[in-house]
Amino acid sequence: MKLFLDTAEYEEVKTAVEWGVIDGVTTNPTLIAKAGQDHETQVKKICALIGNVSAECVSEKRDNMIVEGRRIAAWHKNVIVKVPLTPDGLGAAKILAGEGIRINVTLCFSVNQALLAAAVGAYIISPFAGRLDDINEDGMRVVADIVSAYRQQEIQTKVLAASIRNPMHVTQAALAGADIGTMPFAVLRMLFNHPLTDAGQKRFLEDYRRARASGGSEADDGARAKPDERSEYRKTQEAKPAAPTTGKPVTPEAATKR
Ligand code: G3P
Repeated sequence: MKLFLDTAEYEEVKTAVEWGVIDGVTTNPTLIAKAGQDHETQVKKICALIGNVSAECVSEKRDNMIVEGRRIAAWHKNVIVKVPLTPDGLGAAKILAGEGIRINVTLCFSVNQALLAAAVGAYIISPFAGRLDDINEDGMRVVADIVSAYRQQEIQTKVLAASIRNPMHVTQAALAGADIGTMPFAVLRMLFNHPLTDAGQKRFLEDYRRARASGGSEADDGARAKPDERSEYRKTQEAKPAAPTTGKPVTPEAATKR
């Protein structure tokens, strides 16, 4: 599953791009309003950082949306035009997709709606998991059902799990087979977190610095560490009883079995 950032904040995109973990960005009118910048300017700035940037139409009528969609698509080659899952939105999507413009159909809440989006040639369908959870429905179930229906029908439209609110949603979307998961910056940051990573990294650096301070070279730091400064892992390994010796040379296979 590709990871997208759901934001219109330039600095957030820049940071996530530097982490190297995202493949795209989704914006919507609410996020653009929050960023406080002109729509075109902001989308172009984000497109300069990363590919696959969804930018949403705000027209309501089909013909206006077609004009607006063409205009948005011309902003940058990285743009994916987003339209709502309404009769006007899908009517516009059909024309725009026919012109080779990549379309993300947004505000999807059911398998049937996802089938409609596929029928007009959408490049992406965006089911909103979190907003379904908000009304006491199982959002990730809907994502999984859309993935399953698309696979059975051999539909190529990509499933983008949207309205992701927490790390568990990300795991569930990946396990459901979603092609893409889009999430706020705070959720993306949380994906890194694990207490054992923090503890392990802290210990590695402490061991390394202590060994350096005791005068070892980079290559023999471990060998020169004083006995009481050995890592917990090494102490455990050394405390294990020795394997019975057969007198034969130890092969790599045998060593692995220990
Ligand atoms: O990608 C859609 C997303 O922006 C909606 O998220 O949290 O407002 O439901 P949310």
